[in-house]
Amino acid sequence: MIRIAILASGSGTNAQRLMEHFHGHTQAEVALLGCDQPQAGVLQRAWDHGVPSYLFNGTQLREGDVLRELEGQRIQLIVLAGFMRLIPSAMVRAFPRRIINIHPALLPKYGGKGMYGHHVHEAVLAAGEQESGITIHYVNERYDEGEHIAQFRCPVLSDDTRASLEARIHALEHAHYPVVVESVVNGIVTI
Ligand code: GAR
Repeated sequence: MIRIAILASGSGTNAQRLMEHFHGHTQAEVALLGCDQPQAGVLQRAWDHGVPSYLFNGTQLREGDVLRELEGQRIQLIVLAGFMRLIPSAMVRAFPRRIINIHPALLPKYGGKGMYGHHVHEAVLAAGEQESGITIHYVNERYDEGEHIAQFRCPVLSDDTRASLEARIHALEHAHYPVVVESVVNGIVTI
């Protein structure tokens, strides 16, 4: 059984979809939900799914406590689901091609530090883009620059608001993220 840790900072709708998808799965389980925000809605979602959660702060992430916790819990795959902090290089080195992120735009556009959540959708609308989408990628030491695994596209409509675009992007994420993570799991299982 591949042991997955999800790291999340916010509401956690993607984390929820992942926990649902891997519930009762034969090859992988969500063994841990790591979170850096004590008020985040994702903590309740983990509780509801019986997934243990681990709360930490930025210092613990930078100084290696989080890496030690993940290794101690024999985690093999880390899935970021709305996690807003930079992954330290020691963790990237310890989990080569074993950390996956989802970004709510078509990278390399609208990525980098500060480009997260609604900021991304506002920038896409301000630029007058006719298309947006999501990027699922491996994580390296720089925000949003790791190797791409998959991208999925959707239209931006002329009367879109931040909320309507965000809802369309979320639907795309919920449909695809668990399936793409499962394909990475399959790759690990067959190695
Ligand atoms: C998602 O749209 C995800 O792509 C984005 O945060 C949202 C979290 O929503 N991630 C980033 O912007 C990372 N740079 P959720 O908490 O409902 O899953």
